[in-house]
Amino acid sequence: MGPEAQTRRNGPVPEASRSIPTKPADTDWCLDSWYPALRSSQVKAGKLQGATLLGVPLAAGRDKKGRVFVVRDSCPHRGMPFTEGWFDGELIECSYHGWKFDGHTGRCHEIPSLMPDQDLDVGRIRAKSFPSEEHDGYVWVYMTHPGSRSAREPAPRLPVFSDTYNREQLFAHLPCSIDHGIIGLMDPAHGPFVHQAWWWRGRRSIHEKQKIFEPLPNGFRMRAHAPSSNSAPYKLLGVYGKPLTTISFELPNIRREEIHCGDYWFSSQTTVTPETHDRCRIDFVAAWNIFRWVPFLTPVLRWFGNRFIGQDQRTMEKQSIGLKHDPALMLIDDADRPAKWYFQLKKAYLESKRDGVPMKHPMDGPVTLRWRS
Ligand code: FES
Ligand SMILES: [Fe+2]
Repeated sequence: MGPEAQTRRNGPVPEASRSIPTKPADTDWCLDSWYPALRSSQVKAGKLQGATLLGVPLAAGRDKKGRVFVVRDSCPHRGMPFTEGWFDGELIECSYHGWKFDGHTGRCHEIPSLMPDQDLDVGRIRAKSFPSEEHDGYVWVYMTHPGSRSAREPAPRLPVFSDTYNREQLFAHLPCSIDHGIIGLMDPAHGPFVHQAWWWRGRRSIHEKQKIFEPLPNGFRMRAHAPSSNSAPYKLLGVYGKPLTTISFELPNIRREEIHCGDYWFSSQTTVTPETHDRCRIDFVAAWNIFRWVPFLTPVLRWFGNRFIGQDQRTMEKQSIGLKHDPALMLIDDADRPAKWYFQLKKAYLESKRDGVPMKHPMDGPVTLRWRS
């Protein structure tokens, strides 16, 4: 495509739209889903670690047997954060009046101020506890609507394809809503501008791309294709043969990428977790069995990965300055179509929840998108 094709005069001009939220998103729609609350390494035995998810203060702990739990970081007596108190590996003790709780069930075990003849049923007092799981290096928590506690499905798992592999985690805090975190994550056009680096790609590497997308029950997938030929790391994969990559997105917040080259593979999972209505966290976990023989590969990948994720983080920090002024925004075809699908999926999901009917997917079938990046 020549330069004049990119600045066509006669095509339709997309209208700036108020339907793209610039203001912090409501996080209520994110309830009844699993989120990585903390990295496993942050939750030490016999200590409580605080986190905020969807505006809810949480305290995670690890008992003497190594099992994790997550409770609301608020004593049901008078609201003192549990993280201000103590945890001996068995019971949480509130720092205000010494009430003790089981972190797994939330059940109260002791109220020191009670006289022996005062017959308050201590066991009926509960701290709010959340379903939790630990795998892939995260403590997952199921964030529920008040009053419900059930997790319908197990927490998402990073797909792996052999018994032995390396694994690494990265994270970044972003000063934006989950919406902007997600559409930034699936934005195919920012690469040549935001991720310019000798080891990744330059602005001049921009070229035409065409990919087929197909619907998934709660999202969509870029059909298996040869990975971007203008990115150095993908070129290296050529030693294993012809790699094929698949990228998917599923509500509320998961992007997965798999690269397969015969028996060799690289798999990653990125989640965008709303901490509050205007702050989110990106957690990236990857596993692979490629290049395992290369010495110091994991620290080298960590270095590059942190640079890469840092470029996105700095971009979102700058964008948040612009978003403070509540500008009208636009989404154009085809480069912003994944972002459009995200908003349409979210709307369809909310409607299906409200009306108790199956979700109507915005895509009828496979769609080919074309853009330059
Ligand atoms: S506030 Fe926790 S025991 Fe009173
Ligand atoms: Fe990026």
